[in-house]
Amino acid sequence: MRFRELGKTGLKVSPIGLGLAALGRPGYINLGHASDLKKKYKVKRMEKNTHKVLDLAWELGIRYFDVAQSYGKAEEFLSNWLQKRKFESDIVAVGSKWGYTYTGNWKVEAQTHEVKDHSHSVLINQWEDSRTKLGSFLKLYQIHSATQESKVLRDQKVLQELHLIKQSGTSIGLSVSGPNQNETILEALEVKFDGIGLFDAVQATWNLLEQSATPALQAAQQEGIGVIIKEALANGRLTDKNEDPDFKDKISLLEFQEKQLDITTDALALAAVLNQPWVDVVLSGATTLDQLKSNIKAITVTWTEQMESELGFMREESQQYWKIRSELPWN
Ligand SMILES: NC(=O)c1ccc[n+]([C@@H]2O[C@H](COP(=O)([O-])OP(=O)(O)OC[C@H]3O[C@@H](n4cnc5c(N)ncnc54)[C@H](OP(=O)(O)O)[C@@H]3O)[C@@H](O)[C@H]2O)c1
Repeated sequence: MRFRELGKTGLKVSPIGLGLAALGRPGYINLGHASDLKKKYKVKRMEKNTHKVLDLAWELGIRYFDVAQSYGKAEEFLSNWLQKRKFESDIVAVGSKWGYTYTGNWKVEAQTHEVKDHSHSVLINQWEDSRTKLGSFLKLYQIHSATQESKVLRDQKVLQELHLIKQSGTSIGLSVSGPNQNETILEALEVKFDGIGLFDAVQATWNLLEQSATPALQAAQQEGIGVIIKEALANGRLTDKNEDPDFKDKISLLEFQEKQLDITTDALALAAVLNQPWVDVVLSGATTLDQLKSNIKAITVTWTEQMESELGFMREESQQYWKIRSELPWN
C-alpha cells in the first residue's frame, strides 16, 4: 500500500486504516455484529481477536488505526498490541477521540452504551487517559461527533485547550455524523488561532448511499486538512449481509460490477471512497480476518467514470439515510 500524507500534518498514513469501534466492545450497531464475534464476549477473548485482526492489518500494510475513548477497551487493546509488537512510534499513526464516555458495562444490551459530553473537564480527563494509554503513538486527537447542536465548535475554553494540545505536538481533528455533516465541517474550517485553522483533520461518513458532505470535504482538502472516511460500508448495509428486501435492486446493481471485477460488495464500496481524489484514508471496520481480507481488495480496483455514473443510482436522500442508521439495533 502506498503511503499518503494526512492533509498537511506531516503524518504518513496508509490509504486504508483500521477502525476499532466494533472490536473493542461487545455491542455495536453494525449488521450481524453479534454473529461475527460468535457471541464470545470475554475480555481476554475479545482482546485476542482484536490482536489477530491487528496482526493481519499490519501484514497487509495498514498503518493508521482509529479508536475512541468510548469504544470500550479499544485504546487498551491497541496499546497492548503496539507494545507487544515493539513498534517504533514513527511508523504508526493512531487517531483517537474524546467526548463520549463508554457506559455499556461490557454488555451487548446496555441501557445506555455511551454518553456524550463535550465539556472542558471531559476533554482534560480523557486526553490524560488517552495519552497515558497510547503515548507517542497517539498522533491525532479528535472531537468525537461534533455537531452544531453540541456547540463545541463555539466553546472557547475547549478550543483553547485543543490549541494547547496541538502546540504540544499532537494534531487536532473532529469527527462528524448526521444529516448536517456538511455544515458542521464548514463551521470547523472557520475556527482559527492567529489566522491558522485549528483542525488538521476531519473524519466523516461518506459512502455510496450518503454523499451529502462532499462539498465541505472537498473544501477541507483544499485547505490542507486531512480527510478520513468512516462508515464506508454504511454499518454493514453495503455488504452481502444486507437482506433488506427494499435494498434488493441496489444489491443487484452492485453485483453486476462485482462480477466484472471479481470482488465482493464491501471491497467495491470501499473502492468508491478510495477513488475520491479528496480522500486521504478510508477506515475498514472489519471484525474478522475474512472481512479484512475482503475489504483490502478495494485497493486493486481501478475506478472508472462509467462506474461512478452507474453507481450514482445507489444514493439515498440524506435525512432518510440517517433515519435508517439511527434505527440500527445494537447487537
Ligand atoms: N463518530 C465517529 O467518529 C465514528 C462513527 C462510526 C465509526 N467510526 C470509525 O469508523 C470505523 C469504520 O466504521 P464502521 O465500522 O462503523 O462502519 P462500516 O465500515 O460502514 O461497517 C463495517 C462493518 O461492516 C461489516 N463488514 C465489513 N466487511 C464485511 C464483509 N466482507 N462481509 C460482511 N460484513 C462485513 C462488519 O460488520 P460486523 O461488525 O457485524 O462484523 C463491519 O464491522 C469504525 O471502526 C470507527 O473506528 C467513527
